[in-house]
Amino acid sequence: MTGFNATPGAVEREFGIPIPGAILPEEQWVRTALKQVPEGHIDWAALFGRTAPVVIDIGCGNGRSVLTGAVAHRDRDYLGIDILPVVIRYATRRGNQRGLSNTRWAVIGGRELLAEHVAAGSISEIHCYHPQPWYRRDQVPLRLITPEFLRLVHQSLQPGGRFVLQTDHPGYWKYMLRILPLFFEWTARTEPWPFASQGLTRREIIARQRGLPIFRGEGTARLDLDAEAAIRMVEALPLPLFNADRRLQALDQLEKEGTGSNQSAGRRPGSRSGPPRRTDQRKPPKKPKGR
Ligand SMILES: C[S@@+](CC[C@H](N)C(=O)[O-])C[C@H]1O[C@@H](n2cnc3c(N)ncnc32)[C@H](O)[C@@H]1O
Repeated sequence: MTGFNATPGAVEREFGIPIPGAILPEEQWVRTALKQVPEGHIDWAALFGRTAPVVIDIGCGNGRSVLTGAVAHRDRDYLGIDILPVVIRYATRRGNQRGLSNTRWAVIGGRELLAEHVAAGSISEIHCYHPQPWYRRDQVPLRLITPEFLRLVHQSLQPGGRFVLQTDHPGYWKYMLRILPLFFEWTARTEPWPFASQGLTRREIIARQRGLPIFRGEGTARLDLDAEAAIRMVEALPLPLFNADRRLQALDQLEKEGTGSNQSAGRRPGSRSGPPRRTDQRKPPKKPKGR
């Protein structure tokens, strides 16, 4: 599926940073693909064959954040979802080859998953790293972080359950910070997440190596907001109509290149050689040609 040589014990890297988990001998590989999300609410105990806290990563891309969590917390069960089949194929392969029986992967949209397949109050954590800002005007309705999406996250979490959100897009973050505290007891976070000092996701690594700031935060679902009040509130809240900064669009292309392979191992994103740029620089990426 990729050029990566799945030698047991080999360390798989992207941009020089190891992807957590050791590759096991083939006889220890597992099957973690959820080929089709079943109708109705997912029975988590049946899906994972045990009862454990469930963590969902929405828009998981090539799966780095799920793998990091699943390796560090064997006592939790992780579902990584994305609308792009190719990234889910790479992520699934990685989960399988690492024997991570506490992971599952599926191709499905975040809204659809939460609205149709997740029972209220059933999830321990929902993570969303670098949702696409979508640049063209006709793509604006695709922006994931809307009041209705946050209502679905709020509804899905157990009391005390955590929502984790991260972006490198200042305009999107400004919008998020307006809405998030209405649904969650929200705390912004400046430090990288535990277990991932060099970056928790592919996009975070690319953005940091380009010297861009990362905006992170986490919150617990507000207990003083009931389901009916949340529905009424959504109707009154603004949609994410911020003006996307097209200079950041160049990073999207970098992110797509070699999504699942380690061909870029050791290289800084967007360069052929040379050390990573200092992460305290704040230079935006170059404007792409022809846009
Ligand atoms: C910018 S990438 C970030 C990927 C990964 N989380 C990271 O930080 O490297 C955004 C991802 O969200 C996925 N995506 C976009 N809209 C989505 C939706 N409605 N539901 C689930 N995934 C979505 C895209 O296919 C893409 O893989």
